Amino acid sequence: MTTKTKAVGLAPRRPPKPILNAFFLPRGILGYVGGFLMSRGVDQQGEIADLITAPGSDLCELGSGPGLLAAVLADRHPHLRLHLVDPSPVMRSQAARRCARFIDAGLVSVNDGTAESLPLAAGSCDTLVAVNSILMWPDLAAGLAEISRVLRPGGTLVLSWHSPAAPSSASRRLALTVYQIAEISAALTVTFSGVQRIDLVHSVAWVARRRG
Ligand SMILES: C[S@@+](CC[C@H](N)C(=O)[O-])C[C@H]1O[C@@H](n2cnc3c(N)ncnc32)[C@H](O)[C@@H]1O
Repeated sequence: MTTKTKAVGLAPRRPPKPILNAFFLPRGILGYVGGFLMSRGVDQQGEIADLITAPGSDLCELGSGPGLLAAVLADRHPHLRLHLVDPSPVMRSQAARRCARFIDAGLVSVNDGTAESLPLAAGSCDTLVAVNSILMWPDLAAGLAEISRVLRPGGTLVLSWHSPAAPSSASRRLALTVYQIAEISAALTVTFSGVQRIDLVHSVAWVARRRG
């Protein structure tokens, strides 16, 4: 008898409406528009950057989209090496343009990859941050295991998604359900230690440490 392992993703059971593809896996002209709209979330990205006060020497941003958070972090932490990872070519090209001067300085790299398969060596990062991408991961537990692989022991994971109490109605419409929030908290506790949930103005965030 063969046993099938079922991937446990938080993604909606039905495929997203075509307009939402501009945010889930941005492609083509709609993807460009999606990236433009994401680039307006300066306050949301700023409150996540505020959580990352001591990023260490290497930080991975997973699902980095148009590179807004990366540009803020590169500005605030001049010696930080940032490894951006996103499966969307449109997002990678927008992030590369936004972070061009940091790429030229050898501090930022923009890479193809996903939560399921990160193009980074084991134990190579002090911090990993993923903003508004967790719903796109097809398998939550597999994504967290892969993140744990690339973090150094004691390294920090920062995850976030739109808050149900955000000032923006667009953010509130995209917010996680209480069940999804509980599912993420529980999954984090399995793989990471010191899991803290933090309710910010625009986002619900989690900070956790890689066991080791
Ligand atoms: C809503 S956007 C958020 C982008 C950026 N973090 C922000 O907050 O502006 C979601 C991003 O997740 C990326 N994505 C899609 N599937 C993914 C996966 N399996 N693993 C990681 N990221 C994924 C998309 O390409 C997109 O750039």
